[in-house]
Amino acid sequence: MEAMELKGRIPFEIIESMQKRGIMKLTPPQAIAVKEGLLDGNNIVVAAPTASGKTLIAEIACISSILAKRQKAVYVAPMRALVTEKFNEFREAYPYIKTAMSIGDLDSNDQWLADYEMVFVSTEKFDSLMRHGAEWTGSVGCLIFDEVHMLGDMSRGPTLEILMTKLRSSSKAQIIALSATIGNAKEISKWLGAKLVESDYRPVKLSKGVICNNRVYYSDEATDEPVESAILNGSSRLPEIRLVEDTVSQKKQALIFYSTRRNAEAGAKRIADTLGEHLTKGNDAALGELSKKILGALDHPTEQCIKLSRLIKSGTAFHHAGLLNSQRNAIEEAFKGNTIKIICSTTTLGYGVNMPAHTVLVKDIHRFENSSSSMMGVNEVTQLFGRAGRPKYDTEGRALLIAANMERMKELYRDYIIAKPEAIDSALGIVPVLRSHVLSLIATNFINTKDSMNSFFAKTFYGFQYGNMGHMKRVIDEVLHDLTRWEMIREDGPSYLATKLGSRVSELYIDPLSAKWMIDSLGSVTDGLDILFVISNTLEMRPYVRTTVDAEDRYAAYLHTHKKLMLREFDPMDYGNYDPEGAFSTALLLNDWADEMREPELVDKYSSTPGALYTKVTNADWLIYSAIEISKILRMPSRRLIEMRVRLRYGIKEELLDLVRLQQIGRVRARTLYMNGIKTVSDIRENKPKVTSLFGKEIAEKVFSQL
Ligand SMILES: Nc1ncnc2c1ncn2[C@@H]1O[C@H](COP(=O)(O)OP(=O)(O)OP(=O)(O)O)[C@@H](O)[C@H]1O
Ligand SMILES: [Mg+2]
Repeated sequence: MEAMELKGRIPFEIIESMQKRGIMKLTPPQAIAVKEGLLDGNNIVVAAPTASGKTLIAEIACISSILAKRQKAVYVAPMRALVTEKFNEFREAYPYIKTAMSIGDLDSNDQWLADYEMVFVSTEKFDSLMRHGAEWTGSVGCLIFDEVHMLGDMSRGPTLEILMTKLRSSSKAQIIALSATIGNAKEISKWLGAKLVESDYRPVKLSKGVICNNRVYYSDEATDEPVESAILNGSSRLPEIRLVEDTVSQKKQALIFYSTRRNAEAGAKRIADTLGEHLTKGNDAALGELSKKILGALDHPTEQCIKLSRLIKSGTAFHHAGLLNSQRNAIEEAFKGNTIKIICSTTTLGYGVNMPAHTVLVKDIHRFENSSSSMMGVNEVTQLFGRAGRPKYDTEGRALLIAANMERMKELYRDYIIAKPEAIDSALGIVPVLRSHVLSLIATNFINTKDSMNSFFAKTFYGFQYGNMGHMKRVIDEVLHDLTRWEMIREDGPSYLATKLGSRVSELYIDPLSAKWMIDSLGSVTDGLDILFVISNTLEMRPYVRTTVDAEDRYAAYLHTHKKLMLREFDPMDYGNYDPEGAFSTALLLNDWADEMREPELVDKYSSTPGALYTKVTNADWLIYSAIEISKILRMPSRRLIEMRVRLRYGIKEELLDLVRLQQIGRVRARTLYMNGIKTVSDIRENKPKVTSLFGKEIAEKVFSQL
């Protein structure tokens, strides 16, 4: 179908923008979507391969809603990286549409979003907006759920499922759900009352296969039998290196997925060591710049920053959640600009994103979660494979696994190369998640009676799939009972109403059990470490840092002296494996940070990474903030919490609290001032020349202007 055939049926701006991007024809899934009533407001589920252009289907629906119906549109995806990429692409394509992105602060109703026509959000953020009663969510014209197979994900699925169910019963918006990997697309489309668009079209041919003995065994489309390729170019005997040699000899780029951060780093080092000189040609200056930027991301570079900045000089990078955001973005940009040739990544780059990777290698098909290992499913491998051969960058691509011998090759071939996608199963029914959602449904007056609660859950995908709601009803009863005992809800005739405490807990987006634990234990805290232990001993702070030997020793003593803090009700079932030692070790990490230990030492002491450290500090900030808010409601003292929050935010000892009140003064500058005898803001006022000599004129002026 030609794009021009849509003239008169969709706002012309869309056609114009498509043409600008060189899109003249609709891909088959796009054309089928139009036929199935995309333009008539039908709900639509699109199950079509990676790179088949699912985003454009969403885009047509969104812009039509905005320009033709004057109704807002919202794009929801589970991964922040993906939301960011789509937001940026969209803004570029439609600069005149008021577009906003919101993926941050979970305790805000972000009233400003009401003024925007197109909103990009993460699943959690959207759920939190609804908890805050953001009114505009009811009048949205079009809702996009990208990567909807995430419904089956144990950690992110339940919130997505609840959000979708809430929105379906509270708004009349057209719903478009997209995925490349759902085995039971029909079932999902029935649940959503949607038309199903199925297609196996992929614009760029993606050859999938298994490497064995320096050759690739590709799948033959007609017979599904493996076909042997010519020998890969190169001389290395390591298949991963050999593949990179082969890719570089074709002047292409590769993305290699590893099962752990450590393996990704080791892989990048192997590649840089053996092939560095082939990967840098003509790019030395740009790589040098980038390397410097990566090294300078923190005041004091950590081991990891040093390692990464060195590898980059060889045209190779690793990429995982342990990097700082700024580093991740810089690497992605450099890969897109063909400056970096090889990225060794964990699955952080695995979903939805458009990257110029001609070759994708999934080096290891194991996945590690909560210290247990399992094999990846077909869906996950298919998603990672799908990052290769994207239309924006390539006319063909290849996606590969490695086998040590022919027998293994045949197994992998059968299990991953020609296997069908798996069905998605609802992951609802996990107590901590339900606890939080049941409270929020009551607090927002979405549902107030047990009957309506049960009929709401019958409308979830869980209810649709399993029909039998016996188990779910029992769990909900248990949850209602706990929330009542914890005084977060109360019974009022046949109804449940949220208490002031319950409403606030729901808005704060923390597990009600964490709130209950804070309330019980905050009264017994005596020092900063106690506070940090209280906030660390929650589900939200997981995964914990590794328990250090020091933490183990100190924990025994701590347990003895802090009996009061430890006495608490908890059901180990609610926590999975309850791990107060891990929580204590995490509290020690935060404590060291607030005692001004430098990043490199911290990362080393707790076997952590700068990215993980940053995430811990951000999470802790949110939990302390929640503790402060809860204290306010219960009229408990909160001064110590407030101080601790500032100390954590800046990573400073108590004595620097006064100085950091000024902008431009953070952890490092405050310490410099203090060591030079300038200990308070009024000391600054009296020692201007000294301050100027310490920081230079420009910064000093900015500081003085605040006095
Ligand atoms: N009709 C078209 N003609 C040419 N290029 C197109 C067309 N539709 C989309 N594209 C381009 O194809 C690329 C891939 O599209 P998109 O990101 O929507 O894939 P996807 O189906 O969402 O894949 P994934 O499942 O991996 O997220 C984009 O760069 C997009 O601009
Ligand atoms: Mg996509």
